[in-house]
Amino acid sequence: MRMYDIIKKKRDGGELSTAEIQYFIKGVSDGGIPDYQISALCMAIYFNGMNVRETCDLTFAVRDSGDKLDFSTINGIRVDKHSTGGVGDKTSLVVAPIVSSFGIKVAKMSGRGLGHTGGTIDKLEAIDGFQTTLSEADFIKQVNDIGFAIVGQSKQFAPADKKLYALRDVTATVDSMPLIAASIMGKKLAADDDCIVLDVKTGSGSFMKSVEKSTELAQLMVDIGKSAGKKMVALITNMDRPLGYAIGNSLEVIEAVETLQGHGPEDFTEVCLTLAGHMLSLAGKGSVESCIEMAKQAIADGSAYCKLLEVVSRQGGNTKLIENTSNFAKAKYSCAVKCKKSGFISKVNTESYGFASLALGAGRNTAEDAIDYSAGIILNKKTGDFVEEGEIIAILYSNDESAFAKAEEILLSATEVSGSKPENEPLIYNIIT
Ligand code: URA
Repeated sequence: MRMYDIIKKKRDGGELSTAEIQYFIKGVSDGGIPDYQISALCMAIYFNGMNVRETCDLTFAVRDSGDKLDFSTINGIRVDKHSTGGVGDKTSLVVAPIVSSFGIKVAKMSGRGLGHTGGTIDKLEAIDGFQTTLSEADFIKQVNDIGFAIVGQSKQFAPADKKLYALRDVTATVDSMPLIAASIMGKKLAADDDCIVLDVKTGSGSFMKSVEKSTELAQLMVDIGKSAGKKMVALITNMDRPLGYAIGNSLEVIEAVETLQGHGPEDFTEVCLTLAGHMLSLAGKGSVESCIEMAKQAIADGSAYCKLLEVVSRQGGNTKLIENTSNFAKAKYSCAVKCKKSGFISKVNTESYGFASLALGAGRNTAEDAIDYSAGIILNKKTGDFVEEGEIIAILYSNDESAFAKAEEILLSATEVSGSKPENEPLIYNIIT
């Protein structure tokens, strides 16, 4: 088999065989195929797509490219949730404590920030001392002891995805449906969960910009998961605006803690409760409606908040930061962004908000970049709000004062102000079961 022929076949719109897809992923994993040929095939897939059979083959090859986790010694039902990536998306920090407070096991592997989107592992590392690497034995023991553990993905876990993702990130081939589905589901299936709830983002801050495309992606991932014997649900949620008001690592942890304490932003709280409700329901705790009520109760009675504290303590994090979030280190500098004219915020480009946060130091431009955990944005106004000329719409935080000019410019040009109030968009567009 020759990689040249595989690239040519897909370039010309052909269907790759299972053997060709396996050959490709083996070459990605063992370094046998050079980066330029991997990138060329990704671009051919980007333009010509893959059918369901090819996408399943790609997913299973990614899953099988490295170590798989064996959760058979975890007692109880294991449920995971995965987001396709967004801005201000700190749902895992709220949803996993809620669900595990009911005895459902959450053995979570999370990722770091990608492009304009934040990553749960980076957010957790904003908590001083929090260990995001555990041995498999310690990880499983913690899940059995307290119901919830969360770690980053080890190098041996779906290594083909790591290589592919790094190349897609720099060759403009991230937003391809089969490549996203195989990347996400390849990793999810290499873990050993019974049920998976997908949070498929849609809109300007997500990789899939339209509800139709996001729904198609969700359906594809649900079908892949089901074909591997998992119980699956996918929610299509709005990413045409950031979730909540905080963007940036420690700022988002603080917002997640406030949400667990019962005073989080309405939009963020609603998405968390709905995701948690579906996770509990898939795990056999009752109807979605009654499980959402249970999730509300876990926030109201403090049990979900206590679960987060327990996990932070168990993984070496400084619980004083959670108990009193004003203990988080603050950025040295802040800058108020003022609106240039009066009117309603009619539309924002959420991806650009993510890039503004990145410019402040909250994310990485290259894999080697260090993160400024205190950097980010607190929004004062969101889509639909009325603003007066000169009113503060956001506060920027950074330890690099020189970053403000660029971030402010990005934020202002990503914020449309007009004379009429925009229509309310749904927060949850669709649920695929
Ligand atoms: N998240 C992933 O893990 N992979 C993608 O391709 C997109 C989002």
